[in-house]
Amino acid sequence: MKPIIIDGKKVAENIYSELTTKCKTLIKERGVTPGLALLLVGDNPASQVYVNMKDRTCQKLGYYSIIKTLPADTPESQVLSLIDNWNNDNKIHGILIQLPLPKHIDEQKVIERISPKKDVDGFHPINVGKMLIGIPALLPCTPAGIMQLFKAYNISLSGKNAVVIGRSNIVGKPISVLMMQKDNYANATVTICHSGTPNLTDYTRNADIIVAAIGSPEFIKADMIKEGAIIIDVGTHKIADHTLEKGYRLCGDVDYNSVISKVAAISPSPGGVGPMTIAMLMQNTYDVAAGKYE
Ligand code: GUN
Repeated sequence: MKPIIIDGKKVAENIYSELTTKCKTLIKERGVTPGLALLLVGDNPASQVYVNMKDRTCQKLGYYSIIKTLPADTPESQVLSLIDNWNNDNKIHGILIQLPLPKHIDEQKVIERISPKKDVDGFHPINVGKMLIGIPALLPCTPAGIMQLFKAYNISLSGKNAVVIGRSNIVGKPISVLMMQKDNYANATVTICHSGTPNLTDYTRNADIIVAAIGSPEFIKADMIKEGAIIIDVGTHKIADHTLEKGYRLCGDVDYNSVISKVAAISPSPGGVGPMTIAMLMQNTYDVAAGKYE
């Protein structure tokens, strides 16, 4: 059977068209423009690209946004006081500090300084705790985006055997929690594997659903999965490819060409989860502006 290629770009575009309309209404009826503040510290090229994409998406939807760029040697105290300013600025509904931060800055301290009400990344311990309990909260964008993809493609997780590979705070841990919650589009039996898991293939070969957030290019091959598996590829890598004029290509944690003849559905990288992360950031920012969590 022909596999379903999960098109994150298309799902994200549908969310954007809905948010554009809702944003106009919010401005007209309540005089509130959703506002997002973005902070980039240092000159990590990938982070620069991500922050610019987030800013451009704000413009496209009619949001207010500001980008602050600080040099890599900015003292931690300056970052904290900038967050204090944004916490107190009522034009700003969401605050996003692009990670990773330079080594001398305590990432956790920075995350905890953001008001949980403006924490559109869903990284603050208050929001992480609410998510775990299963009460409404700002959810981390990549895991929330993956759940939206399941919904958009009517993929039921209930009773399925899901294997998450990776235990990061940004993806692995939260997606495991969301997939096992007792609600309609979740209810999976979730196993979390990571770099300390011996015999990983014992788990992946039994998985109905695999969420690959490993951080290793094209790691998942056909012999590691079962026939009819559903695969969500969270990785993004730029790898050398001298057969191409540009000298590189983008890929994920899954060897797409290897697994494609065996899967029932796959969210490829690029084009799957990536676009959904930004869409969820925009959704979270709108939700705060509209007072969803007040
Ligand atoms: N770096 C990689 N992913 C993310 C993300 O989702 N949010 C932030 N703030 N930084 C990131």
